Amino acid sequence: MNLKRGLIIISVVVGAGWVIRQSVQEHPEDELIRDLVRERQQQEASEAVAPVRTEPSSDMVVSLIPEGKVWFVGKYEDGGGVEIPFQPGYRPEKSTDETPVEENPGFVGVEACQECHEEKYHSFLATGHYKTSRPVNEQTIDGRFDKGFNGFQTSDPNVSFEMIHRGNEFLQQVHFFDWSFEVPMEIIMGSSKMAQTYLYWHRDRLYQHNVTHITDGDQWINSPGYIDGDAAYARPIPQRCLDCHLTYFDYRGNRNRYTPGSLILGVTCERCHGPAEGHVNHHRDHRDAEKAVAITNPADLDRKLQMDICGQCHGGSRELKGDALSFRPGDPLEDHYFPPDDEQDAKNSVHTSNQLNRLAESVCFQQSQMTCVDCHDPHHNERGDDQLFSNRCMTCHENESDCGYYPQEGVDFASNCIDCHMPRRSTENLRLESVEGDVFPPLRDHKIRIDEAATQRYLESLQGSR
Ligand code: HEC
Ligand code: HEC
Ligand code: HEC
Ligand code: HEC
Ligand code: HEC
Ligand code: HEC
Ligand code: HEC
Repeated sequence: MNLKRGLIIISVVVGAGWVIRQSVQEHPEDELIRDLVRERQQQEASEAVAPVRTEPSSDMVVSLIPEGKVWFVGKYEDGGGVEIPFQPGYRPEKSTDETPVEENPGFVGVEACQECHEEKYHSFLATGHYKTSRPVNEQTIDGRFDKGFNGFQTSDPNVSFEMIHRGNEFLQQVHFFDWSFEVPMEIIMGSSKMAQTYLYWHRDRLYQHNVTHITDGDQWINSPGYIDGDAAYARPIPQRCLDCHLTYFDYRGNRNRYTPGSLILGVTCERCHGPAEGHVNHHRDHRDAEKAVAITNPADLDRKLQMDICGQCHGGSRELKGDALSFRPGDPLEDHYFPPDDEQDAKNSVHTSNQLNRLAESVCFQQSQMTCVDCHDPHHNERGDDQLFSNRCMTCHENESDCGYYPQEGVDFASNCIDCHMPRRSTENLRLESVEGDVFPPLRDHKIRIDEAATQRYLESLQGSR
């Protein structure tokens, strides 16, 4: 980015922007005019959606960065710029080629389970896994699109965004000086626990939008890692990203190329049970068969292999050894993923913690046969239910008096074992990506332990709430 900025500065020094800037500085009365102009611009921006101007104006620098096939549009007075993979003045294009590169190995999607697993199907629709990637529509999209609430103004007065709902489309409208363009929001990433971020297609390539919606405070904000004051729409979505947030996709190689029609959104049944086409076909043909065929029940696997299923996505920053989606339930994790990188983990490079490794450091884990499903039922949304999680502690610890700290005045131990023993933290092996500071809340540390500081904090929070 800095390099590109340097380039713009050099090339615009001779441009019109420079001349205007100089004359403003030389004549003090012009300052008044400039303020008036700025005021009018702001007023205009707050009025009804202006018609979208399709071409960047002539005083902007437009350049193609050939390696990445990214267009860069900038202007001198402003340090920031626009990065887009499609030609300025145009919109992203639809793909015309839907031919998959690889044959789908039998992923059929969650709808196919409904007819025979009605209960699990319905409860599953409420889970974070199901919702973690979804098509954009009125039911799924968060955030407000009505005037006054649909804008995001960066710290640069000349760079702002408007979220537009027009017909069936949801768009991010970018305003860069007097140039505006639109990018459709097509896929949601994130269940909304913390946030939703948005993806779009240009031909068969997937990219991320500049503006993300943060659930806390219902705000539009820069996507994680984006520089405030830029309008960046050229961040490619690599397969590891989809590997953690989707059920299936046909990868066409070259970083972010996928067959658009091949995507099965959400982390659904088959990422934990294996591709189910054979299972579904068999049981449709043999309606009275009681014994399951061609499907993996993780409960039948040994402890390590069972947890390795979750480790695909909850084991920290593991890079792929081959292509994504090659893992099958029952495979050892290390056959498909490199070990996590501690340095990356410390830098919050992936926005989730390494539950797999942290749990393994707990005395509970070391002195029992505990797995992830001792506390988490993957078929139900149990988010935030402290009481339920505490009950799960007490399947092994029998009752609250097993706690060495019991009893204490004013503390209802049985209702919340976790704030003292599994505090939310953002340190050690816990990683968070931040959007302008610490917007993403810290996650539960899965190293279960005696923690004096957490106990102190919990006691204080009880006092605060009284
Ligand atoms: C036509 C009926 C049918 C469909 C469709 C179906 N199943 Fe099943 N499934 C069964 C039967 C019958 C069993 C065995 C009885 C049971 O455990 O419920 C079973 C059992 C299972 C089991 C437990 C296996 C075991 O060894 O204990 C899993 C896991 C499973 N199915 C997953 C799925 C998934 C995932 C889908 C959708 C992709 C699906 N099923 C679709 C009929 C079906
Ligand atoms: C190693 C697996 C992994 C990778 C790679 C990954 N994510 Fe995630 N992501 C997660 C997990 C797990 C969570 C949930 C955090 C939690 O609750 O522990 C999450 C959370 C999120 C959220 C917030 C969801 C919420 O709870 O509201 C968004 C948005 C998101 N990811 C987008 C992305 C995007 C975009 C990429 C790729 C550029 C990506 N993720 C790459 C695993 C991953
Ligand atoms: C995040 C991983 C995950 C997802 C997603 C998931 N399951 Fe499971 N499922 C498991 C695990 C782990 C077990 C074993 C549970 C145990 O040991 O108690 C299991 C057990 C089962 C069983 C057999 C035990 C029982 O309770 O009957 C069936 C059937 C089943 N799942 C169906 C489904 C269906 C259908 C879906 C999608 C609607 C689904 N699962 C989604 C992880 C998952
Ligand atoms: C293919 C990747 C993948 C696999 C496999 C997977 N998860 Fe997840 N899990 C995710 C992602 C992504 C999220 C974040 C969902 C969100 O909030 O957008 C998540 C969220 C969760 C959450 C938080 C749910 C909430 O709503 O607060 C729990 C708990 C969880 N996973 C447990 C498990 C367990 C246990 C297993 C193994 C049985 C497992 N996961 C397997 C990707 C995966
Ligand atoms: C599968 C059984 C099991 C579950 C579930 C379980 N534990 Fe444990 N835990 C143990 C065993 C076994 C020990 C070691 C013996 C002991 O201290 O009782 C232990 C030890 C502990 C210790 C002492 C740790 C130390 O460093 O000395 C704490 C604290 C603890 N557990 C808290 C919890 C909390 C809180 C939960 C729920 C979030 C929980 N446990 C769930 C089995 C379990
Ligand atoms: C002893 C109980 C216990 C075990 C075992 C356990 N967890 Fe958790 N986990 C929790 C609790 C409690 C929470 C907080 C849930 C909430 O507030 O919604 C949590 C939250 C999570 C979350 C949501 C993000 C966060 O930090 O709030 C994910 C993802 C998760 N666990 C994954 C796993 C995975 C993967 C495993 C196995 C490696 C696992 N957990 C084993 C108790 C457990
Ligand atoms: C207010 C904070 C707090 C709450 C709530 C709490 N604990 Fe503890 N727990 C502690 C502290 C502090 C210790 C260490 C006490 C000591 O010095 O022996 C401890 C010790 C333990 C131990 C180790 C016991 C031993 O003798 O070594 C276990 C097991 C345990 N707790 C389980 C639980 C369970 C299960 C719950 C929920 C029913 C729970 N705790 C709720 C703070 C708490």
